[in-house]
Amino acid sequence: MTAELSPIDQAKFVAARRSVDFVENGMKLGLGTGSTAAWMVRCLAERVRAEGLQVTCVATSSRTIELGTSLGLEIVPMDEVKWLDLTIDGADEFDANLNLIKGGGAALLQEKIVATASDRMIVIADAAKEVAQLGAFPLPVEVVPFGWRTTKALIEETLYSLDVMNREVSLRMGGTEPLKTDEGHYILDLNLKHIGNPRQLALVLNQIPGVVENGLFIDICDVVVIGHGDGRVTVRDINSGRVENGSVDITESRNIFADLD
Ligand code: 5RP
Repeated sequence: MTAELSPIDQAKFVAARRSVDFVENGMKLGLGTGSTAAWMVRCLAERVRAEGLQVTCVATSSRTIELGTSLGLEIVPMDEVKWLDLTIDGADEFDANLNLIKGGGAALLQEKIVATASDRMIVIADAAKEVAQLGAFPLPVEVVPFGWRTTKALIEETLYSLDVMNREVSLRMGGTEPLKTDEGHYILDLNLKHIGNPRQLALVLNQIPGVVENGLFIDICDVVVIGHGDGRVTVRDINSGRVENGSVDITESRNIFADLD
């Protein structure tokens, strides 16, 4: 199975595998959503199985609840724990300050609530997600369905006063219908190409009636674990400034891949 992984999946896997080394017995954990986070959930479940690690988890989407539960993880509602020790999640883009664009998997609302409620957030990503300036990835904005066209027009108008390079806003579809998030909201994707001031944009978007939350995560992420297709992993901690380079031996993860066969 490991030999079948593409370089990008290997990169995602090694970042995920390294990230679960940060998990300690007794922790309350936030589990992200997406393909990289799914590897992390598998790696965590393997540690729980192999080491008898006790952790309580909150998932950031119905997909992650399903995966985590199927692998035997204890998943509880957010309100049961309120605060978390650590959240591990993927990202669509990250910059040098560890500001993020998230929401490619339409789970940004729960992801932001869970990450903000955590003492520490670790982002796991393949190296291609690192950018000098956020914005090449369309910024997801979660909106209520009622009056969404008005909300979209207000967003477009607002973008004219902001430092962005492009101003295309599109409704995300799930087949022939608008895609609905776990909360029953819609997603507008803002194709901005370049976001000059992510902090300002994040604040301004959330002032617009109908906007529930935006996918800019500013000052939330503490650590990024960057995976490479050849097994190398870089861990960067924004608070301590520490950078650690290492590697993950993929052959030692046979159990995780065996589950997938
Ligand atoms: C979901 C997210 C994901 O973390 C993000 O889209 C990255 O996904 P992937 O790991 O599949 O590249 O924000 O809402």
